[in-house]
Order: sequence, then C-alpha cells, then structure tokens
Amino acid sequence: MSRTAGAKHLVLIGLMGVGKTSVGQECARRLQRPFVDTDDLVATAAALSVADIFATKGEVGFRTLERIAVADVCASPQPLVVACGGGTVLDPDNRRALRAAGLVFWLRAPTATLLTRVGDGSARPLLQGDPEASLTRLGRLRQMTYEAASHVSVDTEERDIGEVADAVLAGFEGGPA
Ligand code: S3P
Repeated sequence: MSRTAGAKHLVLIGLMGVGKTSVGQECARRLQRPFVDTDDLVATAAALSVADIFATKGEVGFRTLERIAVADVCASPQPLVVACGGGTVLDPDNRRALRAAGLVFWLRAPTATLLTRVGDGSARPLLQGDPEASLTRLGRLRQMTYEAASHVSVDTEERDIGEVADAVLAGFEGGPA
C-alpha cells in the first residue's frame, strides 16, 4: 500500500447518484475497514432525515452539521472509507481536511446516468422539481471544485460497483485508476 501507508482514509466525492455509498461499502468490505457516510452522520446527529434537516434548518443548517461530521471523520485515528454527501467539498475547510486526512477519489458519470440512479429525486432536497436540470446545473457548477478536491478521478460509466471499486482500490494502492 505505497501511497497510503495503510493509514489514510479512503474518501469518495462526486455528484448525487454517482454511487459513492455503494462503492464505498464495497471498498470498505474489501479493505476490512469501517464505512461511514457523512449524510448518515449528520442525520444521526440531528435525529432527523437529510430531507427533514433541509426542511427545518435549511441548507445552511445542514452544511453546519456536515462540517462537524467531516471534522469528526477526519479526526478518527482508525482508517475509514468515507462517502461524502455531494456538496461536502464545496466548503474549503472540508476540502482541506479531507485531502489532508485521506486519499480523495472523485467518482464521475454523465448526467443521463446519474438520472437513472437517483430516480425521481424525491429523497434529495436539491433535486426537487426537475432532477435533470438540477444535476446538469450542479455538475457544471461543481466540476472545478471536485477536480481541485480530489487526488484521483474515476469514471464510473459502464462499470458496475465491483469494477468501480477495483479502479478506486487500484488508485488507493498506488496503481493506475
Ligand atoms: C447533497 C447531496 C446529498 C446530501 C444533500 C446535499 C449535495 O448527498 O448531502 O442532499 O449538495 O449534492 P448524496 O450525494 O449522498 O446524495
């Protein structure tokens, strides 16, 4: 495990629907590490679903809780696999902390593919109304941020979960992504 020395977190970022949770769970299983999802940490801390946090505290309230979750994850002495909510790395402090504590993989897919994976978007507050328009807009807005936040970019198109995990773990262990 050359680049990581086995100690760093494996961090997954990217747009909603790209498969961070499924791929993260598979990577965690193979690495025999705990898996955490920042959305779950936030929901547990608030004792509310992500949708209910947005509804009652707004996006600002959600992002405040998300920053705390990221700081906790980064401080964990145990190496983890971390799936980040799609907007986590918009915050520069989160970006810096995640890059310092882990190797960060940006999972990518075309909007059409993301759309098939998010369904009607009803569980995701930022996809209410017109998921296609929202994903297209967020993809454009966030592209440079994801690029700057990540160490490795992984194309998920036409790859199943196991194949994406293969590519991520190859990158994590120092080989080609
Ligand atoms: C968000 C993505 C969601 C969740 C919240 C906001 C975003 O997580 O954190 O709805 O800003 O992209 P997933 O990417 O896991 O769906």
